[in-house]
Amino acid sequence: MTRVAVLNGPNLDLLGSREPELYGRTTFAELEAMVREEAGRLGVTIDWFQTNHEGAFLDQVRTLRGKVDGAIINAAAWTHDNLAVRDAVLAFPAPFIEVHLSNIFAREPERRHSVLADRAAGFLCGFGARGYVMALRALVDQLGGR
Ligand code: DQA
Repeated sequence: MTRVAVLNGPNLDLLGSREPELYGRTTFAELEAMVREEAGRLGVTIDWFQTNHEGAFLDQVRTLRGKVDGAIINAAAWTHDNLAVRDAVLAFPAPFIEVHLSNIFAREPERRHSVLADRAAGFLCGFGARGYVMALRALVDQLGGR
């Protein structure tokens, strides 16, 4: 069965209560449930992960090497400047789709850059929680087409 990792960076666990005007009111648990429901429809397995700790994120990316067929990554604030996260993801052999709840290009200049985007199989932002479901569909579609 196709196995997809969903990797979430810092503060995403506060989804629903954190700046809802930017990130929406869907809670993090609801987001996970939405992704798992879609995964069930698509017939794929999800490895769901969130951490507020950079080292834990790096270790998880390493742990998943060779174990999953693809990934959906929202590295949150690390997206914009963290080269250790970039290096870990570049060493990750499977395709990944970068996702952000908010449209990072419509925000502060520091957020308009991603250290991952040039290596992503696809990039989706600005669709809130639904973006994760869209990313999952796109990734599974891409994996099936290979
Ligand atoms: C985010 C955008 C980042 O700039 C921010 O630091 C986040 C969430 C998003 O999903 O819109 O934590 O990745």
